[in-house]
Amino acid sequence: MLIGIPKETRAFETRVAATPETVKKYVSQGHRVTVQRGAGTAASYLDDAYADAGAELADALAALGAELVLKVQSPTDSELPLLKRGTVLIGMLEPFNNENALKLAAAGITAFALEAAPRTTRAQSLDVLSSQANIAGYKAVLLAADLYPRFMPMLMTAAGTVKAARVLVLGAGVAGLQAIATAKRLGAVVEASDVRPAVKEQIESLGAKFLDVPYETDEEREAAQGIGGYARPMPSAWLARQSALVHERAIQADVVISTALIPGRPAPTLLSVETVQAMKPGSVVIDLAAGRGPEYGGRRGGNCPLTDADTVVVKHSVTLVGHTNLASMVASDASALYARNLLDFMKLIVTKEGTLNIDLADDIVAATLLVRDGEITHKA
Ligand code: NAI
Repeated sequence: MLIGIPKETRAFETRVAATPETVKKYVSQGHRVTVQRGAGTAASYLDDAYADAGAELADALAALGAELVLKVQSPTDSELPLLKRGTVLIGMLEPFNNENALKLAAAGITAFALEAAPRTTRAQSLDVLSSQANIAGYKAVLLAADLYPRFMPMLMTAAGTVKAARVLVLGAGVAGLQAIATAKRLGAVVEASDVRPAVKEQIESLGAKFLDVPYETDEEREAAQGIGGYARPMPSAWLARQSALVHERAIQADVVISTALIPGRPAPTLLSVETVQAMKPGSVVIDLAAGRGPEYGGRRGGNCPLTDADTVVVKHSVTLVGHTNLASMVASDASALYARNLLDFMKLIVTKEGTLNIDLADDIVAATLLVRDGEITHKA
């Protein structure tokens, strides 16, 4: 097949959907690969390396006009017309964004949204949410350490003792657990909260303290089990008790890293305006849910209503970081892992002979198929 690798054009996007390593594999499998010139430059993969791996270098028209197009993010309105009808597109195509799915359908293509893959053992090697969230959790801590006006580790010096920073992690999924591990490595004292009881052990095994909000009703216990590994919205009584505990811990914290998401719904509000007002001056909040929370003041906040998407703001003497694409800040490794996720996914839809085979009996293929020949197949 002819595989196209266009350069990503959305704001703050520095990743690329194939690296020289994966291009080499596609070529050895008998495919032709067309890489747009400069596609990997922002991720430190240069054109020469792609050419050495066997790719043909071309322009956007050729890369987007291939039979099978590998992308990081969904095509923009100016990229969409360059896709040919019948093309197969694979990427992070926002399966819960109906408006976007309609646009992809109108282009007459077949599209796979990899974020919709089930969280099963077999899907692990192509799990783009995990590979990218892991990086975001790591980078969140480094950003916090950079912006926080004190040390992270405890230090005993001749000029006096410096206390270790206190880091509070809200939401201990893939990003949150990596944030805990990274903050511990920097010497911080870490505590974390999540709705799902299964994470208690994981949090504690990383050396952090689990903030327990006991369930008082069967409804709370049931909601906390989540669905398919994901969280579900919790009853308001539990959220109120969690909020009181988060307030108490956040005002003692120096850094808060919030990562709580619920697929297909607005991210929960975990850090209220009143809590931020009461936090210590110089504290840092890294809100990985920025732009995905409920509407507040005419725009969408994150787990904290005060966060501004893609901006760093200081409010009530607290620095709030709303970057929405932290994985792009570690572009080279983020691309390498994402490109391998794609390589593994391709094995499910392309036969050894190099032909397309969309087998809906395969749960991963069925779950990720967003649009087939111009028809939306995925329920948001
Ligand atoms: P996510 O990005 O959807 O959410 C992040 C975290 O926020 C989750 O842990 C969620 O429980 C938590 N959260 C939601 N509402 C909250 C609230 N009100 N307060 C506190 N925390 C809240 O989740 P992610 O990181 O994608 O992981 C989801 C699950 O999938 C996890 O159980 C993870 O272990 C599992 N998983 C399984 C894989 C596999 O078996 N192949 C691969 C990757 C993840």
